[in-house]
Amino acid sequence: MNIRIFENEEDLNATGAGVISSLLQTKPRAVLGLATGSSPVGIYKSLIALYQKGLVSFAQASSFNLDEYVGLPVEHRESYRSFMNEQLFSHIDIDLARTHVPDGLASDLEQECVSYEQRIDDRGPVDLQLLGIGHNGHIGFNEPGTELTGRTHVVDLKEETRKANARFFNSIDEVPTQAITMGVGTILKAKQILLVARGEEKAEIIREAFMGPITTQCPASLLQCHPNVVVLLDRAAGRLVK
Ligand code: F6R
Repeated sequence: MNIRIFENEEDLNATGAGVISSLLQTKPRAVLGLATGSSPVGIYKSLIALYQKGLVSFAQASSFNLDEYVGLPVEHRESYRSFMNEQLFSHIDIDLARTHVPDGLASDLEQECVSYEQRIDDRGPVDLQLLGIGHNGHIGFNEPGTELTGRTHVVDLKEETRKANARFFNSIDEVPTQAITMGVGTILKAKQILLVARGEEKAEIIREAFMGPITTQCPASLLQCHPNVVVLLDRAAGRLVK
């Protein structure tokens, strides 16, 4: 595991965007695993800047997002499809037909999970999976517990996760109670993983995930089993890394 701690945001974002753009330069048809939330936004901005300067193209790439809320209309500004369109897809030359986000409005959610996993297996493996980390150690929406699910599945969101995400909604009551998420096994199938975390509030969970034991109580700790993980942290999030 390669953990890198940055003194400034710009360097962190440029490094993350550099890993993704180098991949696209050597493999234009790369399959990207993408994340939402606040952590990857700076990297998306840097990627857009590289695209605008003509230094990277997404024209032949495809993407699979980690997760989507159940029950939010696609046009809702907090649906992960809207987020991706707004933060990245509408600013670059990716073919929207090759961008995949689970359908949280599917009438048969179980079938949607099976078919999403199948689409990943058909087009994959994912070359590079971008991840954030929840305060409770979740990756995607794989919440801590005694058991973790390997493949894409429907999950009941923990109260702490709904509280953390309430900042994006008018109130916690509006935060959906369920989501579809790639499983931990789906995530671990990616060839390379790039996890990003920022801020003091992530310092403790970063220590637990990467310096502590591998346990389902901290899903991100399972990344210790993956042979190719890069972790990008700002100084505050990396404060407890020894
Ligand atoms: C987002 C996702 C989540 C977030 C995590 C951190 O697609 O799957 O696991 O990465 O909740 O969120 P932020 O980056 O907002 O702190």
